[in-house]
Amino acid sequence: MHAHHHPRTRRGVVWWRVLCAWAATCSTALPCPAAQSARAHAHDGERVFIRACLDCHTASGGSGLDLTAPGVLQRRALTAAKVVRDGTMPPWLPNSHGASLRDARALTASDRAALMQWLESGAAQTVASVPSAVSQDSPAVLTVRLAEGWRVPADPGLAVRSFALTPEIDQATLVGGFELVADAPGVLHGVSFLWDQLGYGIRLDNSESAPGYDAVGDIGLNASGSAGAISRLAPRVTLPREYAIEIPMRAALIVEAHAQGRGKVESPAATIRFLPAPPNARVLRPLSMHRALCATLADASEAVAISVRAGPRVQSIEVVAIDLRGSTVRLLEIPRWNEQFAEPWFFDPPVALCAGTRLEVRSTVNPAAELVPLDAHATAMSEPTVIVLVADEPTPESHKKPN
Ligand code: HEC
Repeated sequence: MHAHHHPRTRRGVVWWRVLCAWAATCSTALPCPAAQSARAHAHDGERVFIRACLDCHTASGGSGLDLTAPGVLQRRALTAAKVVRDGTMPPWLPNSHGASLRDARALTASDRAALMQWLESGAAQTVASVPSAVSQDSPAVLTVRLAEGWRVPADPGLAVRSFALTPEIDQATLVGGFELVADAPGVLHGVSFLWDQLGYGIRLDNSESAPGYDAVGDIGLNASGSAGAISRLAPRVTLPREYAIEIPMRAALIVEAHAQGRGKVESPAATIRFLPAPPNARVLRPLSMHRALCATLADASEAVAISVRAGPRVQSIEVVAIDLRGSTVRLLEIPRWNEQFAEPWFFDPPVALCAGTRLEVRSTVNPAAELVPLDAHATAMSEPTVIVLVADEPTPESHKKPN
């Protein structure tokens, strides 16, 4: 109060402090005073929180847990510090031993330390608001409604159901991405697709009176996910530029949906939007590896994306590429599988693979989960199914510039 009436005095005080600080650093070479560095750290902590957590933890974010609502972060600050310490948050399953991936969410050690210190000291009263991740309403080549009428039970187990949809597609169409807009964010963990031209999925769906059918979405060797996947962790997926996935003509869309009960019976209904591809996009095709089956590339290719389906019996997953001379490249390594945080991963840059390269999946079993009896879903998911989306390597002609 006093200082307001004596601006010059106040100014003098400030200058005096600056001089002291200067004297302290120069004469004794001490680090910054502790209080000052704690404050800088707190600021860093909040900055890391906004950048690393709020993609998912706003009212419209995919997690269903809004950490920006008044009081929520203060109440959950210690839990938040715990899940950051044990590496659960931000969710990111692959480690850094595989090929490099786009949009990796792993925190650096110093960001993690700053964030934990900020959370452990109770976080802030209010977090600077961030614009919500509203759907950008870009035009879609196809929009489908999913899982209307399906009720996910309250108990916290994984619920899997597949749906056969019959959108009217009268010509082959390329898509460059997908968007999942859930009616109630969080309950639906993810969806994966395949296109079925044989009609099996429709027959399965018609065999039950409720919408969908009680099985994983695979049709023969055509694995769910071979035509793309979306997770609540990143509800808007854009394929790397220049690539696309093809929707064939007159096929049924089979969507395998994963949800988890949250203490009350809920509807996981959602809208899926298929986004247009850029012109001249290169079509991706799936290589799927079920159980002990590995896949061999006939032609030189580029691996663009990888996704995995596996249940809680699976502990670790490794996907390697072995070329004809026997040299091995690790594409993906997940030391501790957690199906809650499955999502499609994109190689950045795409990984070049020579003709004759064999892709192989290696996995270990979680000893604790091995004791739990298997139901039909758990059996289907007791070993990983891995899908790698590849494009043929561009031919020399396609590199030529038009003259
Ligand atoms: C990519 C999305 C995503 C990001 C980024 C993310 N989270 Fe989460 N978070 C989730 C999901 C999904 C859940 C699980 C919600 C559920 O139980 O269904 C979750 C759960 C939580 C929980 C509740 C855990 C519990 O055991 O109750 C906390 C606390 C949390 N996150 C904090 C954070 C913090 C702090 C960050 C930033 C370092 C962060 N999250 C980043 C998606 C995310």
